[in-house]
Amino acid sequence: MDADLQPGVPHAARIWNFWMGGEDNFAADRAAGEAVAQVYPEIVDMARQSRRFLIRVVRHLAAEVGVRQFLDVGTGLPTMQNTHEVAQAIEPESRIVYVDNDPMVLVHARSLLGAATTYVHADYHDPERILAEAAKTLDFREPVAVMFMGVLGYEPDLEVVRSIVARTMAATASGSHLVLWDGTDTTPAVVEGARRLAESGGVPYILRSPAQLASCFEGLTTVEPGLVQITQWRPDDPEAERIDAYGAVAAKP
Ligand SMILES: C[S@@+](CC[C@H](N)C(=O)[O-])C[C@H]1O[C@@H](n2cnc3c(N)ncnc32)[C@H](O)[C@@H]1O
Repeated sequence: MDADLQPGVPHAARIWNFWMGGEDNFAADRAAGEAVAQVYPEIVDMARQSRRFLIRVVRHLAAEVGVRQFLDVGTGLPTMQNTHEVAQAIEPESRIVYVDNDPMVLVHARSLLGAATTYVHADYHDPERILAEAAKTLDFREPVAVMFMGVLGYEPDLEVVRSIVARTMAATASGSHLVLWDGTDTTPAVVEGARRLAESGGVPYILRSPAQLASCFEGLTTVEPGLVQITQWRPDDPEAERIDAYGAVAAKP
């Protein structure tokens, strides 16, 4: 059966794709994306800078730490330089499991994936199911990088978010890593942007404080430079602008 893409309803993955400069979006997604960009044009930088952050982190984990397995939850639509491309450019045997619950992501994922890369259509509120499916591709006795990249704001309750992260990390071996970034409530403009998103019929996104995001890393050892604006995480360009998005990488002892 064909996926129900609901083109008339703005979808998170397609709005994000619009901000990233992609073409896998419909008029309703563009209208929601533009409503946000009117009051918070920096959203476009956030989307693009977040991909640069992903690339730097995956390269670091693959090349310097030697991580060979990645669980990327809330993958989004395929765009330039996805996790498997970055990791497999360093180690072709790297194994990647992508997870998303958007029907359009499912349609695209089917055509993208190869032997060492699989896709699980699932909701991140069910980490046990995700872990069971991911275990068909990943060996959880070995380190895994678990990635929640700009996705946990769709869950309004911070305690639920913390539980999702903790339950997922509990299944991983010592030497595994958590990579997490999210939009933060650090300027009035971004808060107004989030309000516009909710008003436009898009799935509301909860901006959190950096301290709230830091609480998701409990029990893990944050690697340098800690929880920072994502443009400041081991930047290629130290002059990169500062944005309302914080992220960190942390190791499981
Ligand atoms: C802002 S996009 C980020 C995409 C990608 N991680 C990136 O960094 O470019 C958020 C993604 O999270 C997905 N998502 C939202 N809620 C989800 C859920 N409950 N379970 C799984 N994926 C979810 C959306 O479908 C969308 O693809």
